[in-house]
Amino acid sequence: MFKLKKTGFCKDNIISYGNMFLLGNGHLGYRGTLEEYQKSEMVGLNVVGFYDRYKDKWRESVNMPNPFYLKIENYSILDNDYVSHEIELDIKNAVFKRKTTFNNLFIKSERFVSQSEDLICFKYQIMSSIDQSLHISLGTDLDIYEINGPHFSSMNVKQNDLIVEFKGITNENEIGYLKSQYIIPKNANIKTFNNGIYTIEINAISNKIYTFYCFSKISKNTKINSFHYDIKDYASIKATHKKIFNEKWNNSDVVIQGNKEAQFAIRYSIYHLLILGNEKYQTSIPARGVSGQTYKGAIFWDSEIFLLPFFTLTNPLIAKQLLKYRINTLNGAKEKAKEEGYDGAFYAWESQENGEERCSKYNVTDPITNEPVRTYFGEKQIHISADIAYALIQYVNISGDTSILFDDGLYMMLEIIKFFMSYSTFENGQFHLYDVIGPDEYHERVDDNAFTNYLVKFVLDKFIEFIDIYDYSINGELLEKIKYFNDNLYLPRINENNIIEQFSGYLKKEDVYVDEVRKRITHPQEYWGTENGVAFNTRVIKQADVVTLLSLLNEQFSKDVLKANFEFYYPYTEHGSSLSASMYSIVASLIGENELAYDNFIKSATIDLGTNQKIWAGGIYIGGTHPASNGGSYLSLVIGMAGLRFINNEIRINPNLPKNIKGLKFKVFYKNKQYLININKTNSKVEELYD
Ligand code: IFM
Repeated sequence: MFKLKKTGFCKDNIISYGNMFLLGNGHLGYRGTLEEYQKSEMVGLNVVGFYDRYKDKWRESVNMPNPFYLKIENYSILDNDYVSHEIELDIKNAVFKRKTTFNNLFIKSERFVSQSEDLICFKYQIMSSIDQSLHISLGTDLDIYEINGPHFSSMNVKQNDLIVEFKGITNENEIGYLKSQYIIPKNANIKTFNNGIYTIEINAISNKIYTFYCFSKISKNTKINSFHYDIKDYASIKATHKKIFNEKWNNSDVVIQGNKEAQFAIRYSIYHLLILGNEKYQTSIPARGVSGQTYKGAIFWDSEIFLLPFFTLTNPLIAKQLLKYRINTLNGAKEKAKEEGYDGAFYAWESQENGEERCSKYNVTDPITNEPVRTYFGEKQIHISADIAYALIQYVNISGDTSILFDDGLYMMLEIIKFFMSYSTFENGQFHLYDVIGPDEYHERVDDNAFTNYLVKFVLDKFIEFIDIYDYSINGELLEKIKYFNDNLYLPRINENNIIEQFSGYLKKEDVYVDEVRKRITHPQEYWGTENGVAFNTRVIKQADVVTLLSLLNEQFSKDVLKANFEFYYPYTEHGSSLSASMYSIVASLIGENELAYDNFIKSATIDLGTNQKIWAGGIYIGGTHPASNGGSYLSLVIGMAGLRFINNEIRINPNLPKNIKGLKFKVFYKNKQYLININKTNSKVEELYD
């Protein structure tokens, strides 16, 4: 149950398998590609927190050269006939493996991205069934796959005694270092070294195994010290790596009884979360994880709303790092607020290392005219600032770690509140948040988005509570203003049918469902949003919006309200974002729609297991892994189906299991203690775990 395997080879799956078989350690990502692949197969060694801009293109994360290029003449899966081929991702140990049999040659390889340092290790074995001379290219491939590159304006590569050192200077004058040590079989003959690649000849004797190793270190701006590895180091580094990864699993696994598909799906999702958490770096997690440069390698609300809760419950140290990233980038948010004419902290919709806004004003391209389309995500998706404050509150309440509040957490909240106050318009005795975009990005520049207004209200209530409890001093006049803003912030009301209108005027939009709108598009990659898009004048929404609000603040709403809104919004939701299904799953569980909860959970948890994901939006490539969907799947089980809550300093569960899940078992941290939760159809218990 911990292995993903695919047999056979099909060119069409190269890109999706690159995502599916991804390795990472929260700082580095290595795509699930094969050794003979190159740029056109999207080989990628992606580095989190390392960004660059080429000319006037989008500033994006940097891919390093590929240190594991190895191609044997006449034995490439891309060009030559093969007898059998299998790739495997061992998700328990975060190791990728490959086995390929050609006529006369067998290849076996494996690699892992070390969990303890920025080191990637690789082992490659060949066995020929006949005596033959093999011509091999091995080394560091400098031809890098990039979406908006090239990022290295200068590249320098030198070799000495099978150590290849790469130094690349980016367009922004940062330095990427990559140093790789290759170990080759004793009778291998090095013929040439050119541009990072050795050509090697081996006179292979039948049925003898020839083994290659590579140890590769990566660093930004800091020169890599000299190192030397022996063959036996491979096994010991792997053992340490496995131990660390297994410890992570020990705190994070969710055991599902009675359903193998769901069990694998959640473990696969958890695997993708585990390869993204890193206690050492105060970066956050890009929307497409470490799978590449999609969405510029930028950090979105995905981190706080969909990923942070998983880490708060299973590894609070990582959750704290994610929050520290936001605190550390507060200046970027203040700068953005100032530029846009507001006070306080307006966080970037797409944030990179310093928190400046990296969202383009033309975030999509019209696939028919090829013209850029004006979008307002960066300027109007103001809910991002409230999402960050919401995440901080949840972290403090669940972890019990209040230190972050005094480590500028409360200050960050205050700056966020100042931003919302300055953004608001006072009209008819109430404060309104006009001209915004909610989670549903198809309806731009709307007024009083329910998700945004309710979340801001939640943040205000908690801030006022916190400053009282923790005796945080702020200017009295400012406090009065905050309280007045809080008392008079407009909240879209719950109408006579229990519906919360997504934004003012939403219910006046054309009442058609998703299928009808889909019929109206004229190009498969057409963008449905903006005021010229097919969805704008209709009630069709891209992703859960009011339902996300109900999922996050479910304790504030009655079951009738949850049910009415779930049923109302469901047929209007395209689920055009991978952030949607998990929110529906959670609310479905809370209203007892257990089978719908299951369907939406499976949809979310298997998002990266298929080969036909949505990889285009308005002409822009958006492929890669979907961490937010993985995090959402975890929440669908833990918050939705198990009904986990923290009330009056106690853990409560209120299970709603679908028919085909017999039980759930998982551990969570709550206020510095760890608990084991064991649920089945007849009996459920919460047990404190002691060391
Ligand atoms: O943050 C999301 C957004 O909600 C929908 N489009 C993709 C973004 C990144 O995942």
